[in-house]
Amino acid sequence: MGEVTLFSNRVYIPTAMTGVYGPAEDSFLLLRHAIGRIKGAVLDMGTGSGVLAVEAAQEPGVTSVFAVDIDPEALRVARGRAEAAGVLGKMVFTVGDLFESLGDARFDWILFNPPYLPSEGETDEASWAGGEVGYEVFLRFLAVAEEHLNPGGGIIAVVSSRTELDLDEVERKYNVEILEELPLFFEGLYCLLLRPL
Ligand SMILES: C[S@@+](CC[C@H](N)C(=O)[O-])C[C@H]1O[C@@H](n2cnc3c(N)ncnc32)[C@H](O)[C@@H]1O
Repeated sequence: MGEVTLFSNRVYIPTAMTGVYGPAEDSFLLLRHAIGRIKGAVLDMGTGSGVLAVEAAQEPGVTSVFAVDIDPEALRVARGRAEAAGVLGKMVFTVGDLFESLGDARFDWILFNPPYLPSEGETDEASWAGGEVGYEVFLRFLAVAEEHLNPGGGIIAVVSSRTELDLDEVERKYNVEILEELPLFFEGLYCLLLRPL
């Protein structure tokens, strides 16, 4: 068993070598800005182990949580986490590339901790490879995310300094607020709150 992390009195056991992204600094950075802020219908894009989705489902003001991932194995792990937490009844799990499985569904809050490392070719895994330069998946997400938000809705996302994402480009479509900057040894992580202009 790997290292055990404590957050808000709950214990997380990192996923074994399944290729599913276990909770890490970026997950917890996003989580601490989502808790207490999100309510209504929530989408956890790229749910991975389901850590954000299951915590979201336990928030009193949250009515439903959709957990989406391109990796079916991630949804299996996320569903198990939801079952253990007793929140399955509040959740929906769908496999798909970004919004493709969601039709025209809209949400009050969308959470996304995207894959952001540059592709390395055949060894790529969906959990970390975000495209040739690293942020293509996130840009594809941003291109349509606003169409899936209810009026007044917002997006909480994490980006890394390693993506060299141009925030000016994001600001053409969204009001961008940096909620926290977390310096790590090898990169800086930013937790962003985005609202459509
Ligand atoms: C960095 S992990 C984050 C996992 C989890 N949300 C967390 O914070 O710990 C990124 C997740 O996005 C998923 N993903 C990658 N590309 C995707 C896509 N095009 N559509 C949906 N999910 C995707 C990966 O499978 C992975 O589970």
